Amino acid sequence: MARREERNLLVGLDIGTSKCVAVVGQVTPEGQVEVVGRGEHVSRGMNRGDVVNIELTTQAIKRAVENAEHMANCRAQSVFVGISGTHIRSLNSTGVAPVRAGSVSERDVDSVMDAARAIAIPADQKILHVIPQEFVVDGREGIHDPIGMHGVRLEAKVHIVTGSISAAQNIHKCVESCGLKVDKLILQHLASSYATLLPDERDLGVCMVDIGGGTSDIAVFKGGTIRHTAVLPIAGNQVTNDISVAFRTPAPYAEEIKVKYGVALPEFAAGDDEIEVKGVGDQPPRRLSRLTLAEVIKPRYEELFRFIRKELHRSDWYDLIAGGVVLTGGSAQMPGVVELAEEIFELPVRLGTPHNVDGLKDVTRSPAYSTAVGLLLYGRSSKPQIAKAPTQGMGYWAQRVGDWFRGSF
Ligand SMILES: Nc1ncnc2c1ncn2[C@@H]1O[C@H](COP(=O)(O)OP(=O)(O)OP(=O)(O)O)[C@@H](O)[C@H]1O
Ligand SMILES: [Mg+2]
Repeated sequence: MARREERNLLVGLDIGTSKCVAVVGQVTPEGQVEVVGRGEHVSRGMNRGDVVNIELTTQAIKRAVENAEHMANCRAQSVFVGISGTHIRSLNSTGVAPVRAGSVSERDVDSVMDAARAIAIPADQKILHVIPQEFVVDGREGIHDPIGMHGVRLEAKVHIVTGSISAAQNIHKCVESCGLKVDKLILQHLASSYATLLPDERDLGVCMVDIGGGTSDIAVFKGGTIRHTAVLPIAGNQVTNDISVAFRTPAPYAEEIKVKYGVALPEFAAGDDEIEVKGVGDQPPRRLSRLTLAEVIKPRYEELFRFIRKELHRSDWYDLIAGGVVLTGGSAQMPGVVELAEEIFELPVRLGTPHNVDGLKDVTRSPAYSTAVGLLLYGRSSKPQIAKAPTQGMGYWAQRVGDWFRGSF
C-alpha cells in the first residue's frame, strides 16, 4: 500500500450536520490538488455544527475515512478538520508595534501580530484563526507584505475567529478515537471560500454563504482578505422539517421529496406535476402538486436570505460587496435558490462549486463538497513540504506571510 508521504497526500474531514465526508487529495509536482479518494457517512451525532453524540460522530468519521482510504489506496494518519456552529465568534482587531531597526523585520511582524491577537475573549472560547487583513506602516495602508519597508510604526489589522473550547475538544476526541491526528481545525466557511471564490471576487467584495443542513455559514471578503464571518442556525434541515409538518409526512420522506421535487420558486414548478406523499403511521398516501411544495419551501429560504441581508447591513458590509453573493453547500443546489436570492439581496448571485482542483468529478462539481475540497486547498498551503511546486522561488518569509493571509497562523 502506498505510503502517504511518498504520494504527497492530504486528507480533509468535513464533519457536517447531514454528512461526514473525508476526501484524500494528492498534490501533483505542479502543486495542483487532485481528489483521489472520497468516503461519506450519514452524520447523526452532530447538531448545528456541534458534536452532540461522541459515539455516533466517531463512527461516522471512521467509516468516511476508511472508505476514502480504500478508494485512494492509502492509510490516513492526520486530517485537516472543519469546525463551525453557533459557538463561533469573530471580530476585527488591531495591533501596533515599533519598527526597531529602521525597516520592518520578521521580528517586528511577529510582535505586531502578537499585539493584535492580545484581546480579551470569554474563558470558554479559544482562538482558531488570526488572519491579517492588512499592515499599515507609518500610516500607509493596504500593505500585504511589510518586510523591508522603512518606517517607525507598524500596525496590523486582523480578523480573529474564536470557537468554544469544548466544541473543539469534542472534535479532537472523535478524530483521535479513530487513530488520527488533527493537522488543524479550520473554520468551515473559510475552507468553503478557498474552494469556491475567485480572486477577483475576493478583491472586489463578495459574500459567500455555505447553506448546509444545520447552519448557514457566511464569510465576507474584500480587498483580497476576509473581513467578516457569521453563522446562522437556519439551513436545509428546517426546510425538510417544514415539508414534514406541512404535509404530515415523516422526515425521511420529506427529505426525499425535497431533494427530488423541491424548487425554491413556484415558477420553477411545472403546475401539473403531482407527487405522492406518504402519510404518518397508517394514514394513506396523498397527492400534491409541485407548486404546493414550492410554496412551503420558498418562505424558509426567503427567511434565511432576509436574515443574511440584515446581517450584512448590521455589519456594514452590504454596500461594499460589489462582487455579489456566492451560494454553496448542499442546500444551495435546489433549483430557483439563486434566482430567489437575487430578488432578496438585489445583488448578483451565483452558485459556487469547487474550482482549482482535479480528480473525482462527483466531488469537484458539487457545492456539497466545497468545505471538504477547501480543507485540502488549505492543507496544501499550510504544508509547504507537501506543496513543493507553488512555493518554488518563494522565500520562507513570503510563504509565511501568504499563510497568514490564508489564516494558517
Ligand atoms: N439537490 C438538493 N436540493 C436541495 N437540497 C439539497 C439537495 N441535496 C442536498 N440538499 C440538502 O442539503 C443539506 C445538506 O447540505 P450539506 O451536505 O452541505 O450539509 P452539511 O455540511 O452536512 O451540514 P452543515 O454544514 O450545516 O453542518 C440537507 O439539508 C439536504 O437536504
Ligand atoms: Mg457543511
